[in-house]
Amino acid sequence: AMPRQVNIVEVGPRDGLQNEVAVPTAAKVELINALSKTGLRYIESASFVSPKWVPQMADSSEIMQQIDRQNGITYSALTPNLKGLENALAVNTDEVAVFGAASEQFSQRNINCSIDESLERFRPVIEQARAANIRVRGYVSCVLGCPYQGEVPLEDVTRVARQLIEMGCYEVSLGDTIGVGTPLQAARMVKAVLEVVPAHQLALHFHNTYGQALANILACLELGVNTIDSAVAGLGGCPYAKGASGNVATEDVVYMLNGMGIDTGVDLDALIRAGADICHHLGHGPRSQVALAELAK
Ligand code: HMG
Ligand code: MG
Repeated sequence: AMPRQVNIVEVGPRDGLQNEVAVPTAAKVELINALSKTGLRYIESASFVSPKWVPQMADSSEIMQQIDRQNGITYSALTPNLKGLENALAVNTDEVAVFGAASEQFSQRNINCSIDESLERFRPVIEQARAANIRVRGYVSCVLGCPYQGEVPLEDVTRVARQLIEMGCYEVSLGDTIGVGTPLQAARMVKAVLEVVPAHQLALHFHNTYGQALANILACLELGVNTIDSAVAGLGGCPYAKGASGNVATEDVVYMLNGMGIDTGVDLDALIRAGADICHHLGHGPRSQVALAELAK
């Protein structure tokens, strides 16, 4: 049955801006502050990764220190290893996330180790975060396809998702990293994962490269998953890869859910303004059909 309420995990400041041209720290802080006034309750704000790998996220400590934190909002960050966790804890990050993949080749290229090595690397990160009373989210990338390997067997998705939960993640976010999935495939994948992880511990993290993300979300909401990752203005894509695209736009998700009578607590107009403002720094308009339609009025 359809959920009555959906939790939105806003990933624009992280997943979006890690893949856009670099923007000034002040603009990122302004974006997170604006998002904090929209009713969103969870904002992935930074990423404590190697600045050589992702220079766009090199100012993560400054961001966590400069944002105006609002009560009731979780400001989280990616932490691939203990060094990342240490840096995240030093600036009072509320929650952290480890990120693995269901594809061996993607794991190598993204975090420079095998899937099994990554899980071993995450173990102490999860243990030490939890010892510090910090909850840990887990990501599985390439759940509906891999840019290097192509098809990804469902067993690999379910195995990594189950292991992340067993190791202490409270939730696993299922990433269609390259946005290639279609609705029946997405539902089939989530059904397989539901055999090993309950719906309340799952999130959908769908990129919109092929324009399928909203349809995929709808297909999976029907299975009882009610946490959705999305990026304001559909931020993301890659400045170096033509055609690559960001996460499903938060505006589009909120509009669809509003129309279905599903509560998100998010003020759509405030969200559209926050997205339009950050786009002034990016050299392109919002990649949200809903934002474009509303801004054209
Ligand atoms: P490595 O080179 O194998 O690591 O990278 P290393 O431990 O050998 O360290 C090499 C250098 O990096 C050293 O510096 C370390 O100090 C430094 P040097 O001595 O050469 O000057 N270093 C760090 N610096 C800052 N923060 C750290 C850190 N760790 C090491 N935490 C590593 C391994 C994981 C660090 C690297 O591969 C990396 O940073 N990868 C990040 C890739 C990334 O951020 N990808 C995007 C996020 S994932 C994603 O977007 C998918 C998702 O959205 C879900 C979906 O869509 O599917 C989550
Ligand atoms: Mg992503």
